Order: sequence, then C-alpha cells, then structure tokens
Amino acid sequence: MFYRITRPLKYIGLGFMVIIVLALAIAPFSKRLIEQWSRSDVEARSRLVYNAIQNPVVRAIADSDASRLSSIFESVALDERILAVGLCDEGGRLLNPTKLMPATFSCKKVARSEAESFSTIFNDGRRILVGAFPIVERNQKSYLVILTDLSFIDARSGQAQAFIVAALAGVAIAIAGVAAIFVVVMLRGWMSSLRRAIEEIRSGAISSATSHDRSAIDIQIKKLLGAIEVGQETIRSGQIDWSPGTLQELLHKILPGAEVIVISNREPYIHNHANGAISLQTPASGLVSALEPVIRACGGTWIAHGSGSADRETVGRDDKIGVPPNAPSYALRRIWISEEEQDGYYYGFSNEGLWPLCHIAFVRPQFRESDWQQYEQINERFADAVTQEARTEDPIVLVQDYHFALAPRMIRQRLPRATIVTFWHIPWPNAETFSICPWKERIIDGLLGSTILGFHTQFHCNNFFETVDRFVESRIDREQATVTSGGHETMVRAYPISIEWPPAALAGQPSVDACRSQIRQSLGCAPGIKLAVGIERFDYTKGILDRMKAVDDLLIREPTWKRRLIFVQVAAPTRSKLTSYSNLQSEALTLADDINSRHGDDSYQPIRLLIRHHEAAEVFKLFRAADVCIVSSLHDGMNLVAKEFVAARDDNNGVLVLSSFTGASRELSEALIVNPYNTQEMSKALDVALRMPGDEQQERMRLMRQQVQEWNVYRWAGRMLIDAAASRQRRRIFDISEANHMR
Ligand code: F6P
Repeated sequence: MFYRITRPLKYIGLGFMVIIVLALAIAPFSKRLIEQWSRSDVEARSRLVYNAIQNPVVRAIADSDASRLSSIFESVALDERILAVGLCDEGGRLLNPTKLMPATFSCKKVARSEAESFSTIFNDGRRILVGAFPIVERNQKSYLVILTDLSFIDARSGQAQAFIVAALAGVAIAIAGVAAIFVVVMLRGWMSSLRRAIEEIRSGAISSATSHDRSAIDIQIKKLLGAIEVGQETIRSGQIDWSPGTLQELLHKILPGAEVIVISNREPYIHNHANGAISLQTPASGLVSALEPVIRACGGTWIAHGSGSADRETVGRDDKIGVPPNAPSYALRRIWISEEEQDGYYYGFSNEGLWPLCHIAFVRPQFRESDWQQYEQINERFADAVTQEARTEDPIVLVQDYHFALAPRMIRQRLPRATIVTFWHIPWPNAETFSICPWKERIIDGLLGSTILGFHTQFHCNNFFETVDRFVESRIDREQATVTSGGHETMVRAYPISIEWPPAALAGQPSVDACRSQIRQSLGCAPGIKLAVGIERFDYTKGILDRMKAVDDLLIREPTWKRRLIFVQVAAPTRSKLTSYSNLQSEALTLADDINSRHGDDSYQPIRLLIRHHEAAEVFKLFRAADVCIVSSLHDGMNLVAKEFVAARDDNNGVLVLSSFTGASRELSEALIVNPYNTQEMSKALDVALRMPGDEQQERMRLMRQQVQEWNVYRWAGRMLIDAAASRQRRRIFDISEANHMR
C-alpha cells in the first residue's frame, strides 16, 4: 500500500521540478521574444507613418512650406507611441522637429543610407527607436525621422514574463492540488485497509458486524483458532506420552463438550447364554481392542450389532447398556439385525464381497444384488441410530470399517454439520482390482460423505486416490490429501492403528518365567521346550496354513528341532458359516494332523491347534510364555497381534517373525520380516528366531516396544481427533463469517 502512494508522489515531484526548470528557461527567452516582436511592430508602424506622409511631406518641401511640414509632423506625433518627428537635411540639421523631440537627438547620428534605417538612442534613461526614411526632392536628399518611445516594450515584456510565471505557477499549484487530493484519498484508503486488516486479524473475516457483535465474534473465533493451535502444537511435540489422560485432556481442549458417537459392526461386549447363565465375552477383534480404550477415555455412545444370545436381555428399553460392566464410562447401543439381514449384509456383501476384494489373498469376491440391498438397508439403520443418539447437531461420528461404506454419506444427509471420521481397517486395493465391484461408485461416494477418511498406510491412501480418480467425478488435491466431490471436501490420511499402552491385559500377569512354566505344563511338555505361537481369528488372510507348512519344512530340514519345538496356533472361529472359512478350518486340521503324524508320536505333537476364543489375559500369558510369535498374514491392513506380542514382552525377550504384507511391518522393522508365500524363507526365519542370542533379542524387542509405546492407540485416536477438530473449527469460522457477510 505504501508503495502505491509513494510511486505516484514521485512522479508529481518530478513534474514540479520540470515546471520550475521550464519557468527558469522560458523567462529570459520570452523577454527577448517580446522585445523582438515589439520592435518589429514599432518599425512597421514607423514605416506605415512614413508611407502615409511621404507625399504630403515631399510636396511641402517642394513648396518650401515649413508650417505645413510642421503641422504634418505634429499631427503624426499625436500618436501616443510616437514621441517626435522631424526632418534631417543633407547638412545634418534638424528641421521642423515636433515639441517633444529629445534634446539628445542629433541628425548627425542618423545613418545616411539609400534605404530606411533604425537605430536606438537613450534619453532620460528611456530607450528611443529612431527610424530614418530617405526623402528625395529636387536632387536633394533629406531624412524623415520618426522617434518612438520603446519603454512600453519593457513594460510589455515584464507583463508577459509575469504572465508566464503566473501561468506556470498556476499549473504547478494545480498539480500540487491534484497531488494533495490524491495523497489524501490514498491515505484514507490505506488507513481504512489498515484498520480493516487489523480488524480481520482480530476478528477473522468479519468486518461489518456491530461493535457488540464483533467483540462476541472476536472471542468466539479466537477460541476456535486457539483450539486448532493447541491441537497442532500437541501433535508437533513428539515427546508426548499418549495415554487416556492425554486424550481426555486433548479432547477437553480441542473439542470441548463434543459428543462422540462410534459405529461398528462388532460390539465391544457380548452377552451370551452359557450353561444356564449369562456370560460376558470381549470379541477377538482388532477393531474392538483398538477402539475400546479410546471410547473409554472419551465417553459417548458406541452403536454396534447386538450379536450375543443374551444381548436383548441385558439392555434397557432404549436398547442401551452402560459399559464396561464393572465401571461404566460410555453407553453401548445395540442394533438388532435379523438372520436374513445378517446373511446379506455381514456374511454376504461385507465378508464375501468387500473382504476378499480388499485383501490380496486370491479368494474370489462374490457380488450378489440381494446382499448389496441388505448392506444398504443396514447402513441406513445405523445412520438412523446415529441421528437418534445425537444430542447435538454436530457430533463427532467415528465410523468403523468396511461394513459401513455407505453410512458416512447417509449420516451427512441426516446431520449435515456432523464431523464424520471414517476409518477403513482393512487394505484398500488398487483401482484395477476395485473396478470389479458392481457398486464401486456408490461405495466411493458413500465414503466421501466423511470429513476424514483414514487408512493404516499411505500406500492405501494412494490406492484410494487412484480409485476415486478413475471412477468418480471429483477434484483430488494430493498435496493437501483431499478429495472434493459435490462441493464437499474429504481429507484422506494415514493413521496407523495401534494398541493401548500399557495394555490392560498385562496387568496382573504372572512373571515371564511363571508364564513359561505354567503354559508348558498345560501343554504337557518339558520346561525347556521352545515354543512358537500364532494367535488370531481363523481367517484365510492370516496365512495360518503357510506358517504350519514352514514349521513342517523346518522339522524336515533341521530334524534336531523335533521334540525341542512346539508350535501353538490359537485360532478363534470366525465367519464359520462361509465355505471359505469352514474349508480353511478343515484344511488346517488336516494339515496339523499330517505334520504331527510325520514328525510326532503319542508323546510329541509339534503342532497344537487350539480352535476356540481366548480372552485377552490368556492370550497375553501365551505371548509371555513364547520364544517366537509368528504373524504370517498374506495381506493385512495393520495386524495388532504383532503389536500385542511386543507389548506383552516387558522382559524384552522373544522374537517376532512378521509378514512383509502387514501394515505393522512398516513400523516393526526389528522383527524378522518374511514373505509368507515363501515356505523356505519362513522356515529359515523361524530357525534364526529360535537360535537368536538373548542380547540380540533384547536389542530388537526394546526398539519395537519403544515404537509401540510411542505410537499407541491414543496417539492414533488423538491424531484423528486433532484433524477432526481443526476441520470442525475451520467450518465454524467459515459459518460465522458467512452469516456475518449475509447481514
Ligand atoms: O481387520 C479388520 C477387522 O474389522 C478387524 O478389526 C476385526 O478383527 C475383523 O476385521 C472383523 O472381524 P469380525 O467379522 O469377527 O467382526
């Protein structure tokens, strides 16, 4: 702005200087010019007079009539410019001079030439022009002299000079005036812009509110900006110990009073009838184990499928129950789904369609129209439940996983101001693979109803961008990591999920030595036997058969391990209704029998397949008892089993053999990373793990524990909530500013 004022001012100053220089240059020049004009004017006038009186003068001379001559001369001298007239004879005498003929005039100084001549004399300080015109009569030459007072020329040139100076001064004054007006106008504009800028800094984009409104808005926006700052500051400082307390404090700061609603298919607490009583089960779900500590810290409502046989009996009239049962900190709202709906929505589209579509495990996805319809319907039901549970118009809704690809859009339609954070817990395939889904556009559009869409890795985010680019009309900003479709912007980010730290299941665990001996005792094997474990849902993506084959290969190549090694596979039955899952179970049983028969006998069974659900405490005990944990997923978004094994080993011992196709392998690089499709590679890694010296184990485990501790589940949730808060605050600022501009 300053530059905009000074630049024209520079030009005005320059103009001023030009005018002064002009005035100085023109002044003497104009004087000379006027003098020349005036003199030639006087000469012309004298010549005119001469021409006019020449004949009467000649006749008067011829008649020697002196009085006629005098009267001609006197009448000429009446002209106010003509001072005197006379006749100079050949002898240089002055004849018949008029009355005012100056005494200093002498005919002797008049040039005697054939033609007219002009000369200047001075009398009493005045300049006088003498014009001499030859008159010839009877061979006698005389000169008519006409004297003109030139003092009027000085007066005239003085006047002209004064006029020029006055004119230039006028121009200069005009320029100065224009400049002054310009400066005033510019300064005013500048001042008001400055005032506006200060105002904007103080109160965001609001400029036209009343002063009372403005201070209220000031406070509001300052708070919003402050909250964003707090969140970003928190995330910038890498030194934070992320815990439930940190998360609560953060929520309090960045989302004060915000309502949190979670939706997922699997519920965190399942009530079942067992042996004539009601038992409580916590499911073997990575999603549940990650999210439960978060919602415990935040409070709110978790909406999930009530799948337990005693679930209906344990809820209130509003289908809700306070959980955890021993110290309720949030509400579990159960949604009822019929068996037919479950077949279409859960088993059908979710687990026979999307699950194999997103995991590269070479199981063909099944797409059935009826499954899709059930999927849509259940997504609607959950979206309705969110609306029923929401006490505010802008809750934070955390949508979990591939069961609810359509829900974000449906919730957005019902609660346009909600902050919807969707997390996709499984991988996202490349566009080519995803293109086989008949409802691909609907799924993408559904997810783009989210405010934030999270994946475990950047690789999956990139696949998602590529898919959106191929199939949906949208604007993708890869630098900002956003997709804008139908005027709505979705942030797409990588948030690697994790586990709580320290894990609740670790509390009350016996020492590692005690766990080792107790587990070996329960397995009926010698205290010194090496134990490798695998623990997960019985899912074909987990590579259970592949790791059993690796154990087999090791026992073939290194028979010295016989009777010195046991591999325990804990597999929680899951989705058993589906052929791909039931087939896997029978294949695994057959393979285990085969390996056991080839390498074992009645007293030694190298493979122990335990097909049942294990509660977290049992799982942790097994982890602590193990020498090696094998996670050989063929494809996995993250895999929390790997992180749980690390978390369980507070003695820093134990070796993790980890598939390179898990998201976890990006973080746990001190594990022995393997390709589960390569049986020999995996068996060699198992051998290395079993022989690994204690100090190397400790070194590796310490680093992995540090990683999981720092990047725990509170950090995962915290990062998403910080981004959600920032987006929410930005929207609020925008709304306030919009409303203000509408006034
Ligand atoms: O891996 C994604 C995931 O949602 C896990 O979080 C969870 O363990 C599993 O899939 C779902 O299992 P289920 O179908 O038994 O709920």
